[in-house]
Amino acid sequence: MRPELSSYNHLSAGKVREIYEIDDKTLLMLVSDRISAYDYILDTEIPDKGRVLTAMSMYFFDSIDFPNHLAGPIDDPRIPEEVLGRAIVCKKLEMLPFECVARGYLTGSGLAEYQQSGTVCGIELPEGLREASKLPEPIFTPATKAEIGDHDENVSFDKVVEKLGQARAEELRDATLRIYQQAADMALEKGIILADTKFEFGLDEEGNLVLADEVLTPDSSRYWPADGYAEGKVQPSFDKQYVRNWLTGNKSGWDKNSQTPPPPLPGSVVEATRERYVEAYERISGKKFADWIGCCV
Ligand SMILES: Nc1ncnc2c1ncn2[C@@H]1O[C@H](COP(=O)(O)OP(=O)(O)O)[C@@H](O)[C@H]1O
Ligand SMILES: [Mg+2]
Repeated sequence: MRPELSSYNHLSAGKVREIYEIDDKTLLMLVSDRISAYDYILDTEIPDKGRVLTAMSMYFFDSIDFPNHLAGPIDDPRIPEEVLGRAIVCKKLEMLPFECVARGYLTGSGLAEYQQSGTVCGIELPEGLREASKLPEPIFTPATKAEIGDHDENVSFDKVVEKLGQARAEELRDATLRIYQQAADMALEKGIILADTKFEFGLDEEGNLVLADEVLTPDSSRYWPADGYAEGKVQPSFDKQYVRNWLTGNKSGWDKNSQTPPPPLPGSVVEATRERYVEAYERISGKKFADWIGCCV
């Protein structure tokens, strides 16, 4: 018999995930089907998104050669039946207060900063780069975590050194870039560009650096189809393009600058988006989503 979810203490609700305490060293991290767009959590959920993202994260935790926070298998008996396939058991870590971002391409907040100053997080870049340009080499662009509803703030490497010391800061940067490169190579073999990604690290009881949170999911990464990639224009997002197109198109009646929350998504957009998530997982991992645990219950 598996435990009920209600038998665990609910510690916190994030934008997408819920954290429960299994015991004082162990957490149950639950991935919901919530989706965000334009900094809003939408009222409409995408069925199976939580399972797809969990499957993707597990695929990369398995493939990547770095200590991670997993504290049990995906069918761990401590996971309640109702959330099987979209929850993991992990070590409770002391989280480091930086979002560790690696960028291989220039877009989003990186591009915005570059256009202002020619730098990203204080790193000087060559002139003439444009939207979606490939960088000469991947860069580490840390950010401090914002409260819900706010933007993360990009910071320089020196800020990380100031807070954590030179050795730890270098360890973070090197790990972030190394893991990004490994994952980007894996994705490219499948015809997908990993433009950028965000990792979170924590420290275990011995003070070792451990890869935590979710890894290399579409929520923490920008995946672009390699086929059709061209510098100088905004690339279609692998997962959220239908949602964004619909929200900013005429039919939604929503104005992105209106400061009002977006309307619910129509069924067709939900279904197309669900299929994109499944496709991303299947293409990148080479596995079938139908084989994922809890999938067809
Ligand atoms: N192993 C871990 N131990 C403790 N906290 C963790 C661990 N892994 C991830 N976290 C934290 O759990 C939260 C995940 O929930 P999420 O929905 O992503 O929240 P947020 O809105 O803060 O990004 C994040 O605050 C993340 O830093
Ligand atoms: Mg998060």
